Amino acid sequence: MKKLFVQYSNIYMATCVLHYLLVAFLIAISYNIDAASAGITRHYQFDIQLKNITRLCKTKTIVTVNGKFPGPKVTAREGDNLQIKVVNHVSNNISIHWHGIRQLRSGWADGPSYVTQCPIRTGQSYVYNFTVTGQRGTLWWHAHIQWMRATVYGPLIILPKLHQSYPFPKPYKQVPIIFGEWFNADPQAVLQQALQTGGGPNASDAHTFNGLPGPLYNCSTKDTYKLMVKPGKTYLLRLINAALNDELFFTIANHTLTVVEADASYVKPFQTNIVLLGPGQTTNVLLKTKPSNPNATFYMLARPYFTSQGTIDNTTVAGILQYEPHSKSSKNLSIIKPSLPPINSTSYAANFTKMFRSLASSTFPANVPKSVDKKYFFTVGLGTNPCPKNQTCQGPTNTTKFAASINNVSFILPNKTSLLQSYFTGKSKSVFMTDFPSAPIFPFNYTGTPPNNTMVSRGTKVVVLKYNTTVELVLQGTSILGIEAHPIHLHGFNFYVVGQGFGNFNPASDPKQYNLVDPVERNTINVPSGGWVAIRFLADNPGVWLMHCHIEIHLSWGLTMAWVVLDGDLPNQKLLPPPSDYPKC
Ligand code: C2O
Repeated sequence: MKKLFVQYSNIYMATCVLHYLLVAFLIAISYNIDAASAGITRHYQFDIQLKNITRLCKTKTIVTVNGKFPGPKVTAREGDNLQIKVVNHVSNNISIHWHGIRQLRSGWADGPSYVTQCPIRTGQSYVYNFTVTGQRGTLWWHAHIQWMRATVYGPLIILPKLHQSYPFPKPYKQVPIIFGEWFNADPQAVLQQALQTGGGPNASDAHTFNGLPGPLYNCSTKDTYKLMVKPGKTYLLRLINAALNDELFFTIANHTLTVVEADASYVKPFQTNIVLLGPGQTTNVLLKTKPSNPNATFYMLARPYFTSQGTIDNTTVAGILQYEPHSKSSKNLSIIKPSLPPINSTSYAANFTKMFRSLASSTFPANVPKSVDKKYFFTVGLGTNPCPKNQTCQGPTNTTKFAASINNVSFILPNKTSLLQSYFTGKSKSVFMTDFPSAPIFPFNYTGTPPNNTMVSRGTKVVVLKYNTTVELVLQGTSILGIEAHPIHLHGFNFYVVGQGFGNFNPASDPKQYNLVDPVERNTINVPSGGWVAIRFLADNPGVWLMHCHIEIHLSWGLTMAWVVLDGDLPNQKLLPPPSDYPKC
């Protein structure tokens, strides 16, 4: 009897253990499924602090994140929650934008000062809390107040979910290369001077790869970005244009690049020797190295694409592509130099832009809206403001200052609250108006002889959209004060680029040519110099979303507006409430 009991209890124990193991196994499986789909929380801390840094033989103090220039790389997987605590230790106000992150229902974490939050003041902090949903690829983060992003920027890399792969061969290594613009002067002072005099801003002194100007500048050979590669491998270069004001051509001597992604959306792969990125844009390219060590080094270069008359930093940043292992004579390796298109090569720019097509596969479909609820036609370009009495200005004439506008409205940011806060608390009446024009009030020949009166109107006006509205927007460049490309960035959404062309948009014939099959999906698109571009998006993200030219001086001059997307009826279609540490003014 006792024996039987012992046996029975052993069996019972064994069953219990089995049961326990089974439960543990099931928990482990479900946890893994959870980890793969729901993601994890990743914490970062960004200490905004000063740092002395030497470039071009001059030492200066710059504002940085954690003393790093460029700032730290933020990495997450699709589905992860990011909680990034930003602590402001400097005297400047700060806010950080997570460029290209959709911020579904979490607009409080988007970052543009006076749009979705008031700035983080000295000694204050704010935790940007958001989840990366349905996105993977190369994005970036940057300060979003005045010209602070000149030094406050870094990569934001979203890896595919665990066990999901790229729609291209797995790269041997991945390398972010972030393009920047270096000013010997304080960029904030450059902005203040430009706004005060009404003239164009002083040009920067160098372009940089990962903060380094390279050997074509004074005493900068030691500050050269070097990419060491092995023969016969494929590298994924994550190219990011963080320059303030300059669109940049990029190339590597004797190497062909395969474009596979733009603005964190996969594209149909295509080959090119030269990539063009407007400020704000990102492009992933595959670099296949030579099968054997070529015993040479190769320049990689970037320099502006620019079609306007103003002054620009037309200097060239050079980095070096070098093969390892080094051969014995590696000290005297020859350097092979590539060539770039002419600085004003609009034809190269247009042909390159047309190469981008979305993957439009079953895994990564192109969900371009096929029907449109609301159509908008916005002109984008420069204009003027009057020069104050008793002042001589340096605008296009000495009685005018440079300005910029959308549909002739030059945007004025509020300074005592944010658009989002005033909207959410029902106090927007005194902050913004909802009558942003859906088309120019005074139509003209946009790309022909400009009108005599180039004065802009000034205001804080938005377009209000019902939840789930499908929007078509034609962005028409103007020739006022010269034609120029405008990289237009939309916060909170990706859009599909359904058409583009030169001259004036023709509403009768141009829509017939739209690509509704595999248009590229992006967050920043160039309005061609002297042309137009048509985009479509689904307004499925409630909140207040800025749209602006990512050329910083154009933004400073007012080339921006905002969309207010209302809540939907369902609980999961509503903007979440603000976090408790949300910075109010
Ligand atoms: Cu990358 Cu509103 O900005």
